[in-house]
Amino acid sequence: MNDKISKFWTRRRFLETAAAAGGAMIAAPRQLAAAQPAATPPGRRPLIIASANGVACTARAMERIAAGDDPLDAAIAGVNLVEDDPNDNSVGLGGLPNEDGVVELDASVMHGPSHKAGAVAALRNIRNPSCVARLVMQRTNHVLLVGEGALRFARAHGFKEVDLLTDEARREWLKWKESHSDKDAWIAPEQAGGKPSARAGTPYEHTWGTIHCSAVDEKGNLGGVTTTSGLSYKIPGRVGDSPIIGAGLYVDNAVGAAGSTGFGEANLRNCSTFLIVELMRGGMGPREACLEALRRIADRTEPRHRGKGGLPINSVTFYAITKDGRYAGASMYSGARFAICDHRGARQEDCAWLFERKPD
Ligand code: GLY
Repeated sequence: MNDKISKFWTRRRFLETAAAAGGAMIAAPRQLAAAQPAATPPGRRPLIIASANGVACTARAMERIAAGDDPLDAAIAGVNLVEDDPNDNSVGLGGLPNEDGVVELDASVMHGPSHKAGAVAALRNIRNPSCVARLVMQRTNHVLLVGEGALRFARAHGFKEVDLLTDEARREWLKWKESHSDKDAWIAPEQAGGKPSARAGTPYEHTWGTIHCSAVDEKGNLGGVTTTSGLSYKIPGRVGDSPIIGAGLYVDNAVGAAGSTGFGEANLRNCSTFLIVELMRGGMGPREACLEALRRIADRTEPRHRGKGGLPINSVTFYAITKDGRYAGASMYSGARFAICDHRGARQEDCAWLFERKPD
């Protein structure tokens, strides 16, 4: 850690200690702390939580729970809506591809009552990886199948292969390919006249879309699923946090469930969702547990992934529910939302956050 960053973090820890003692948080303490969404109210079941792209997903999962479905089946039915949606370019059909222009999907599921899990990674040509992950859980002695093996397993179970790359996702990929480097043979139209690209030398912004959904039914049984096309334009074969149990998803039927969207490598390095569930087991509320996991990531972010003031460049968002029906969403930076469905219906709410503003 260089000097500047280490001074920042020393100061940050000082401010956090002050905050714990009833004082300030980072930049402009008191009013920022006051702007945070209130801590979660007492629990009520059934309850479904999802990432912000999952409002319809939570509504569908709630319908399925009301119809008597297992909470995991209900959550999977919910995320299938988004996997099947060609307009969501972060999941399933329409997901943004890897650097070769091929869509590779990751997903995991975890079932509270049996404590079983299943997952697939770098799966091509199958639009509902969450359903394949459930079959890995139900019909094998394994937890995770990847690549060609995962595809053959899906075929064996009758999944139809489809071209997951929509025209819109292909055009986005082509734009990326044409503009991400001035040292290769690809030339964007605006560079054709010999003018340097405005983006030459600047790092291309990758995106991490995903949907997570966790459900707790009336009896307190839990299930969760996370499904994604992963980091856009990733190196082929890259596996993110979504199919890794304890990183992008974790469920413990005695405690609660947690899932994540965002910069997967941070969750892989910090076992974040396992951490959140363990913190809740120790008595923390879901909001505090998610914020603590974010703090760990912020503290351990490597220097080249830090921006102004030493803050992490890449954001992560967490979603957590407890067995007794409390919930929270929390993100590295303010402005994030999450989806929730309870007795008041399906809606979005504001996430709690660790830092007010993302560094430029
Ligand atoms: N969180 C999604 C990914 O990093 O792949």
